[in-house]
Amino acid sequence: MGRSLDRTGHEHMMRRLAWVQPGRANHRLVQRQMHGIMPERTKMNNDLMYQGSDLMLDRLPLASIAREYGTPVYVYSASSIRRQAARLMQSLGTIGSLRYAVKANANPVLLALVFSMGIGADTVSRGEIQDALGAGCPADRIVFSGVGKTHEELSFALDRGIFINAESEEELAAIAHLRTGAHVGVRINPGVDAHTHQYITTGTEQDKFGIPIDAAPDAFRLALDAGLVPDTISCHIGSQITSLEPYRKALARLLELRDSLMGDGIPVSGLDMGGGFGINYEEGADFAVEDLQVLLHRDVPRGMKLWFEPGRYIVGHAGTLVTRVLYRKRYARTFVVVDAGMNDLIRPALYQAHHAILPVTRRDAEPTPCDIVGPVCESADCFAQDIPMPLPEQGDLLAIRDTGAYGWSMSSTYNGRPLLSEVLIEDGKPALIRERGL
Ligand code: LLP
Repeated sequence: MGRSLDRTGHEHMMRRLAWVQPGRANHRLVQRQMHGIMPERTKMNNDLMYQGSDLMLDRLPLASIAREYGTPVYVYSASSIRRQAARLMQSLGTIGSLRYAVKANANPVLLALVFSMGIGADTVSRGEIQDALGAGCPADRIVFSGVGKTHEELSFALDRGIFINAESEEELAAIAHLRTGAHVGVRINPGVDAHTHQYITTGTEQDKFGIPIDAAPDAFRLALDAGLVPDTISCHIGSQITSLEPYRKALARLLELRDSLMGDGIPVSGLDMGGGFGINYEEGADFAVEDLQVLLHRDVPRGMKLWFEPGRYIVGHAGTLVTRVLYRKRYARTFVVVDAGMNDLIRPALYQAHHAILPVTRRDAEPTPCDIVGPVCESADCFAQDIPMPLPEQGDLLAIRDTGAYGWSMSSTYNGRPLLSEVLIEDGKPALIRERGL
């Protein structure tokens, strides 16, 4: 990170990092990143805390889990998932329901845990539909989204009575060709900027998703004329959204569209508001779902079927990636080479996302700025730059925090590296919920 950023560079940096943190905390983070100093203080979440010098997840020492299961390893807290999901469910109360976005983390055991709470599934491929069904989600609680569904995938979903959100006029025609009478949602692009990272903004007219709101009435009419029942307006405006405002705008536009469709004799009974609730990756609070509740109670007409599709909010905090230090190199920079790589957790490389990194066993020494890097043959294989920590020894363990969402699910075998094992802590006991790949 350069020290002498010009104004454009500064604005670019602010935009690039804006999605990482809400409000003031975000600004402080940007300042620190600009000066090459990452936050020294790391706020613990409830599940992860030090006992003496040992980092514990749900009161179990991560060091013993690493000893038992090897590294690198993803470790999850069941209680964190339950707490986050319950907070959302309580906030929505009877006004809306949830469809968990399977793409965030599709481990079968975690899926079963989420579905056992009465939450449905948001899926984007035949594979995800099968994962959801296999983990016990009833077909009538599954929604099938995605901009490029194949005819084979559409048939597969229709045969099982799974609700489809269509994203284009041509997709509506394809569905009508396969099954007249099917109830469908039409994904609208409401033209709302969610002010998040450019790769995960989805609701502006520059994005490939959905049908622009101005073209929506014609699309609904086309669906109706083709013999479908387009009874739901859906949208998803982006991910890691930290303020209420984009949701308020999107909801207002969707309700306006609903009124005009109703006026044209097209009954709309469902509203799918997508996912996107942001979590804090460092300091500050998660997205304030309680404020959303106030908005929904005020604006959503009674009797409408309303749902959200959160992924990150439910599983993001629950996951910790535990990795071991292989080597140190101290020249112009201090590199700490660990055994996890960008193929295991791509978020820092792909979105410059920030994940706090903590020593699993604290050392009593002066902190020094360290770059935590992986073994993959790419310079982008870097989890953090210039984070101050006592220089780890070879063999020490580090914990990369808040990696439950879009961690394992985005991993690959690049560089011939095996997919990681996953461990779930439930009722104080660890259990292997995915074997390491070969
Ligand atoms: N619904 C739809 C239609 C979506 O496309 C997504 C996410 C969600 C729901 C769930 O969004 P969430 O609540 O998790 O924000 N890989 C990126 C995030 C990509 C999100 C893609 N769509 C990351 O690591 O930040």
